[in-house]
Amino acid sequence: MPSSVSIREVGPRDGLQNEAVVSTEAKVRLLDALSGTGVKRIEAVSFVHPKAIPQMADAGEVWSAAAKNPEISYSALIPNSKGAERALAAGFSEIEVVVSASNTHNLKNVNRSTDESLDDIAQLIDLLHRNGATAEVIISTSFGCPYEGDVDPLRVHAIVDRVIADGADRVAFGDTTGMGTPRRVREVVGPVREKHDLPLLLHFHNTRGTALANILTALELGITEYDASVGGLGGCPYAPGATGNVATEEVVHMLEDMGIDTGIDLRALIEVAKLAQEIVGRELPSGVLRAGPRV
Ligand code: COA
Ligand code: ZN
Repeated sequence: MPSSVSIREVGPRDGLQNEAVVSTEAKVRLLDALSGTGVKRIEAVSFVHPKAIPQMADAGEVWSAAAKNPEISYSALIPNSKGAERALAAGFSEIEVVVSASNTHNLKNVNRSTDESLDDIAQLIDLLHRNGATAEVIISTSFGCPYEGDVDPLRVHAIVDRVIADGADRVAFGDTTGMGTPRRVREVVGPVREKHDLPLLLHFHNTRGTALANILTALELGITEYDASVGGLGGCPYAPGATGNVATEEVVHMLEDMGIDTGIDLRALIEVAKLAQEIVGRELPSGVLRAGPRV
């Protein structure tokens, strides 16, 4: 088992994009509160079409009002080169571009085929690198698609090979709708870990209750980077029935007890999860939020 794990908090983006629109001020409050928990990476906003995701329409304002902690790497998600231009103009230098392994999901999410997105991404990686930014490629629906069902791991592997050849700095595997299981994690991620040595990150939703089991499996494969969202905020507007990401408190609670360091102060994080509940006005699913830490 690794001795430490790097958690990226995605509540401000993946979380809030699937809740009723909240005020710019509330988004900034959540972001700033998270910046005081010891977490080292935060996905702050996305630069997508405001009609596709109205929750992120004020991404630029949120980012300019946020107190940036110099010890934290903040990133932004984009779907295309217009998003890349907006993210660069806002001052981001860590950028994630998303593509779905499932063609149907990609069409619904970004209105083009997976192959068209991959062609865009090749150019977009160059654009980001020329501007001094890093490019992470997130492969959504890596473990299953709500429309197509099973996604062939070989299809995911071909996308990985392509984006690495095109210069991606990191590859993330998104379990957009919580269809991943330990077996699928081994089949999708195992061969990539063996073949490539660039950073890999895993993004699990807990829709079917398998997120922590998937993380444990990925730890055994040597993966040390994970997304999680405070309180378990989140979902996907193009994935019916999807629930939030695995709750950050649940991941920190489990890892701490296994002697794996995250740098995150669990009690401080639980306070932020309470704030997140207040902001979105509903009870969040995190068990650690409801029951508290162990002692
Ligand atoms: N941000 C803001 N505006 C954008 C944009 C972006 N990232 N990308 C495109 N646009 C604008 C274009 O400038 C164009 O504007 P115009 O009509 O004034 O000229 C218009 O949108 C249409 O451009 P087009 O490239 O045809 O986009 P589209 O209508 O096919 O939509 C996406 C494609 C990718 C922009 C849209 O589907 C999207 O934002 N999806 C994101 C979904 C998402 O965030 N899902 C959850 C995260 S995985
Ligand atoms: Zn997600």
